Amino acid sequence: MMEAIRTRRSIRRYKATPVPEDTVKEVLNAARLAPTANNSQPWRIVVVRDEDTKLKLAAAANGQKFIAQAPMVLVACGVPDEAFQTAGGYMSSHVMDATIAMDHLTLAAHSLGLGTCWIAWFKEEKVKEVLGIPVDVGVVALTPLGYPDEAPERPTRKNLEELIMHDKYR
Ligand SMILES: Cc1cc2nc3c(=O)[nH]c(=O)nc-3n(C[C@H](O)[C@H](O)[C@H](O)COP(=O)(O)O)c2cc1C
Repeated sequence: MMEAIRTRRSIRRYKATPVPEDTVKEVLNAARLAPTANNSQPWRIVVVRDEDTKLKLAAAANGQKFIAQAPMVLVACGVPDEAFQTAGGYMSSHVMDATIAMDHLTLAAHSLGLGTCWIAWFKEEKVKEVLGIPVDVGVVALTPLGYPDEAPERPTRKNLEELIMHDKYR
């Protein structure tokens, strides 16, 4: 697990090599096993393999063309009506729950030799139109899924001292 966390990278070049169905299923199952608020599981993932639909998704993601290069694109949706409504006393948990599921998925994918890239720079209305997502369901994130055709350097991160506080926020 720690190796996967340390070595996962955002992949923006993909091989055309198809991903075996069993492997896809294993990756999706990692999302299924993720925790959700009150075990509400208020998320869905649309697996897009159709070439034309992938191109439309890349266009909906502000023209990020590499998205359509992968053999498939996964679109994570949050379902507010199914979510825990008072996370922190004020918010619906659907975005958090869908995000945790996707994080499980991206790490599982990497551990199986696959690449992913979180995509949040997209126009939600356009993605919804392309996939026929209902108005009361939100699009949380997209990721291409496929075998990496690049090995990017690890980007820098803030030091722990900058990120972690002890006993008080300061
Ligand atoms: C919520 C979120 C949204 C992101 N959106 C995009 C995106 O739209 N396009 C893209 O190329 N990368 C996107 N990224 C990838 C980040 O740029 C990347 O995670 C960051 O630079 C660190 O690199 P690493 O993932 O290789 O560690 C996104 C990442 C996150 C977590």
